[in-house]
Amino acid sequence: MSEFTKSKVNLNIDSGIADMRAQYREKGIPTILDESLNLLLLTLKIKNPKKILEIGTATGMSGICMLLNSQAHLTTIEANEQSYLSAKANFESYGLSTRVSAYFADAGDAIRFLDGGYDFIFLDGAKARYYDYLPELKRLLAKGGVLFADNVLFRGLIECKKPPHRDMTIVRNMRAFIDDLTTDKNYTASVIDCGDGVLIAYAN
Ligand SMILES: C[S@@+](CC[C@H](N)C(=O)[O-])C[C@H]1O[C@@H](n2cnc3c(N)ncnc32)[C@H](O)[C@@H]1O
Repeated sequence: MSEFTKSKVNLNIDSGIADMRAQYREKGIPTILDESLNLLLLTLKIKNPKKILEIGTATGMSGICMLLNSQAHLTTIEANEQSYLSAKANFESYGLSTRVSAYFADAGDAIRFLDGGYDFIFLDGAKARYYDYLPELKRLLAKGGVLFADNVLFRGLIECKKPPHRDMTIVRNMRAFIDDLTTDKNYTASVIDCGDGVLIAYAN
């Protein structure tokens, strides 16, 4: 993403959330980059979903932003107990608990038990697992629904000709994930050079 493009990102989010995001980031707790969050919220507003699934809640920052920018119900899954508990408290403090089903679970296990009909999926969990999740995510995403996957270029390594050996599993799996969605005739998909790389797919 160019510096010019980045300079045009103007995140329109609650100031309390902006402060919390900055504090979490200082502590090394992950949350989506500003430019990717901006694109996420833009996509969300265009789609205006009723039922969102998020893989990778962390402390609930992206979840709260999605809820404040839609009328949707959010199902969100997090494998780290401390993050899950922080997210629950954060949803509560924003008065959003009744609009959230938050699960402390491994996403790969949990998604197998969900019923379908999601019209928006935000995929932001373990990067090496995106491809494993894909058959279930396709089952869960309604026709006309949108899948928004973050970090698909993974620090540039996915495009790299010779990625470090230690990153080969994630590179191989992420390439398979991207190839699958960009060649599947049932989806209209695009990889976007925004933040750490975003893939947006529409279920035709
Ligand atoms: C990039 S962070 C999510 C950030 C969050 N969506 C946001 O923007 O505020 C990824 C999260 O996925 C969680 N995670 C990793 N592996 C997971 C798994 N197998 N199942 C569920 N969550 C997982 C991590 O604990 C981490 O909190």
